[in-house]
Amino acid sequence: MKALVLAGGLGSRLRPFSHSMPKQLIPIAGRPVLCHVVGSLRDMGVVDIGVVVGDRGDEIASVLGDGGPLGVRITYIRQDEPRGLAHCIVIAREFLGEDDFVMYLGDNMLTDGVQDIADAFRARRPAAQIVVHKVPDPREFGVAEVGEDGQVLALTEKPARPRSDLAVIGVYFFTASVHEAVAAIRPSARGELEITDALQWMVDRGADVRARIYSGFWKDTGRIEDVLECNRELLDRLAPSLCGEVDGESELEGSVAVGEGARVIRSRITGPVVIGPGAVVRDSVVGPHTAIGGDCVLDTAEVQDSILLDGAALRRVGGVRASVIGRDATVSSTVFARCGKLVVGDHSSVEVAA
Ligand code: G1P
Repeated sequence: MKALVLAGGLGSRLRPFSHSMPKQLIPIAGRPVLCHVVGSLRDMGVVDIGVVVGDRGDEIASVLGDGGPLGVRITYIRQDEPRGLAHCIVIAREFLGEDDFVMYLGDNMLTDGVQDIADAFRARRPAAQIVVHKVPDPREFGVAEVGEDGQVLALTEKPARPRSDLAVIGVYFFTASVHEAVAAIRPSARGELEITDALQWMVDRGADVRARIYSGFWKDTGRIEDVLECNRELLDRLAPSLCGEVDGESELEGSVAVGEGARVIRSRITGPVVIGPGAVVRDSVVGPHTAIGGDCVLDTAEVQDSILLDGAALRRVGGVRASVIGRDATVSSTVFARCGKLVVGDHSSVEVAA
């Protein structure tokens, strides 16, 4: 089985970060979302991965490369504009050939893994197999009506009045019969070739389209609050590790991962916390649920439930929580000041009044 990872979307809900980086590269618990996705595919035993990219393909390639270090083989497929999920299958035709494949949206996190769902597809090989998740409000998703035996009866994209509580989540399994469907459908009202329409086309022609329920943790990391929730969830599974230095005046409690070359000086860290390689944490109070990127500097800072991207700095600021601080961004004050919830884009500089 091959995989098709979709990483061409614009991520407008993740502004300001999506102005300066592809949304699929936002780090969660210290690793870009896309690396978590590739890891999940590898856990399914998939090695051949096509990654559909848009204008920001170079940045994605600089992180994933040819996939070698991640134990996979990556082929990049360029999409000129986001024209829908089914369009990605159209342009990946040559890469996919006649193989079965799993299509994985590059901003979806299914932290409990889908190996069992992949195994069910491999064993039965229905024409298509979608993954659904019960949600309280399915109106912003594709919604599936599913029979008792798991047969998909109907699919609707973002219905105003959903006919079930089963949202279609970002992992789809297909046999080569999907190619006929994506070639047959026309763009939707939002101008995209919808995968839901392709699946409905298959259902209408009597194809075996099945749904499997995923009941673990799932997030479409489209918005800042989703990113933070996902960060908490993943950090709760963090294994402690110590590659950097922690001085005798610091206290570490709970699960803390200190990256290579990182230094913790006179600080209190309450896990789960990840401290990226080369980061310096001095006279600070960190955690819980905080991921500090590589080469960050925290000096007399207090931060919890937050993400600091690589190179971010906090100096003399406290009370930072539920925040995302962009790459090489600085939040500082001349004397210690409290600041609360912050969303600071890459390369920004914020000076807080005391
Ligand atoms: C897409 C699909 C939708 C699915 C969702 C999952 O929506 O069209 O059916 O439920 O992903 O994240 P989009 O994110 O393109 O609005």
